[in-house]
Formats: sequence, C-alpha cells, structure tokens
Amino acid sequence: MFQKKTIRDVDVKDQVVLVRADYNVPLYEDEEGDVQVASDFRVRESLPTINYLLENGAQKVILISHLGRPEGYDKKLSLRPIVEVLAENLPGRAIGFVEHTDMEQLALAIEEAPEGSVTLLENLRFSPEEKANSEDFARDLVQATGATLFVQDGFAVAHREQASTVAITKLLPSVAGLLLEKEVTMLRGALENPEHPLVVIIGGSKVADKQPLIDKFLPVADRIIVGGKIAADGYTSGHPQIYVAEDFDENSAGEKLDIGPISTTKIVDMIHGAKTVVWNGVLGKVEDPAYATASTIVTQTLGEDDGETSIICGGDTSGFVENLVAEHPDWTVSLVSTGGGAALALLSGGEMPGLEALEDK
Ligand code: 3PG
Repeated sequence: MFQKKTIRDVDVKDQVVLVRADYNVPLYEDEEGDVQVASDFRVRESLPTINYLLENGAQKVILISHLGRPEGYDKKLSLRPIVEVLAENLPGRAIGFVEHTDMEQLALAIEEAPEGSVTLLENLRFSPEEKANSEDFARDLVQATGATLFVQDGFAVAHREQASTVAITKLLPSVAGLLLEKEVTMLRGALENPEHPLVVIIGGSKVADKQPLIDKFLPVADRIIVGGKIAADGYTSGHPQIYVAEDFDENSAGEKLDIGPISTTKIVDMIHGAKTVVWNGVLGKVEDPAYATASTIVTQTLGEDDGETSIICGGDTSGFVENLVAEHPDWTVSLVSTGGGAALALLSGGEMPGLEALEDK
C-alpha cells in the first residue's frame, strides 16, 4: 500500500498548489537553432495530477522542475519549450511562464495569473541553491508564489535531496501526486508482492549499476534474465535462476551489439510463462536500428501479451518502449516508468528522500 498522503487525501479547493514535476525531457535543436522537445512523455504523464487539481477547484497550479544539469543560467536548458506542450495538452487553460530567478517578477506574475491557470517556472537548477537543498531558496519560492500546498509528482527526481524535493516539504503541507503514487505502487508491488511467475529482464551497460537490482530481485524472482552489454561483456552467474544471454549479433569488427536469436527466442518463451515482468535496461545498442531487434521483439511480446503485468523502467528502456508503443497503439504495457535513476534506486533499496519527506497517511 502507498503510505503517503496524496492529493486525494487533502482538500485542494481554493489552494495555490506548487507541483514538483520532472520535465527533464530529451531535447533537440531544429533547423533554425531553436530548442524543441524530443519526447513529451514526462509532460503527458504529469497531466492527471494537473487536471485533478484544476477539476477539484485548485485556485492556481504552479509547476516547478529542473532540466539537465546546468551550472547557472543556460538558455539551451530553459523550460520554455514545455509551455507549448502544456498548452497542446491543456486546451482552453491559461498557461503562463515565469523566470523564477527574479522573485519579485514571480510574485507579480502569480498574483496576476487568473483563477484556474497553470504557470510553469523556469529551470530550478539555474539557481545553485536548488541542488544545495537550500531552505532559504524554498522559502523564497513559497513566499513569492503564495503557495499553500506542495505536491510532489516528479517520480524521476524523488531520489534527489534538493530544495524542491526536500527543503520545501518543511514549509508547506506536502503530499504526493498521482504519477508518484502510481509509479511507487507498481514498482514496489513488483518487488514486494508480485504475481508469480515473476521474470526480471536486466540489460544496459554497467554491471555496477545493475548488480544491486539483481541481488534485490534474486529472492523474489522466478527467473532473472541478463542481456545487453552486461551479458556481451561476459557477465557470469552460477545461480540456477539466472539466465545470461548466450548468443549475440556482432558487427564486422566483432563487437557484440545485440543479443542473438537463440537467446531472444528463449526470453520470449520465458515472458509467455510469466505473470509479472520487470524490464530494466535495453538488450542491445538500440540507437542503431540494426541492433534493436531483441529489444523490439521483447517490447512486442510484452505489448501483445495481456496476461501479465509488465513494468518497464530505466531511462533508455522507457524511452525505447514508449516510442515503440506510440507507433503501435495495439501494444499495451502496464507501466512505462518515467524514472531512470529513481526507478533503479527504488527497486534496489536506495533512498528516496523526495518520497520520504511527504506526509504519512
Ligand atoms: C532523471 O532524468 O533521471 C531525473 O530527472 C533526475 O535527473 P538528475 O540525474 O540530473 O538529477
């Protein structure tokens, strides 16, 4: 069960709500040199919380987020391009944008924002106080916005201890948004109370990142599959529950860039026998379509099989699956997590300060 209060547990009517989202989205530069949003997945996932607040009478919704890892102001990491995505997805709503670094300007903009409006603030990490978990910075934000309620909905940043995830919770009543609740419930459920057989697929490139996940799932999973670069680099395990990919697709230089057809067929069979599948880490070098075959087949198998709960997590894996599922509307998976490091932290027993700081039920 989710132990923290959510927006459903409090009266949001007439509140000025500060919502911490994670709009750390992939970007690209168009031909004119303008920065555009390459994937709006994280923005779309934040909509249920925004809509719930507005439909239940919140006076104003103020969205805060970071983007990238800037050292001070960096125009290329402005959150401004997100405004357009919000406007497309919240038709008929007044959507504002404020460069929060000027607190007086922020106070004025929020005062003038109409009832039922949504206002996005500029990238919090333009201020070094954000990463320093500064209570003064959090207080400035609260005072300038006049916020009366804090909602943490940035699951992907809940493993960070920063002003907008921890310090701010000392200043306002602080509850979880619907995305945070959904992701934590499903990911924890897979680890603590899965429907068996549970199959866990681990790929990606760094053994050091993935070994804690393997260790955590070993006592609960019926099968752990290791693929991706970890397997290509020679991961070995004598454990009977662990299956390591046994053949690979190679390029002309002999580099193993995807797992091969024998392993892929075996993995598909294992998925067919499962009731819960957790997948973290792509199985090949998926940015090259020639080596995305195994990951595509696994996505298709999960997407077409509706007999099991399928949970996809990790930045690269989620991005890959989300794109494919968008192209194939008949493929459905239970959860594509917005979290990269956060999902890994939650599943491998790491700390989630942004979650812990919220009020208990
Ligand atoms: C992510 O994309 O994993 C989150 O937004 C956290 O970003 P960070 O690793 O820069 O803190």
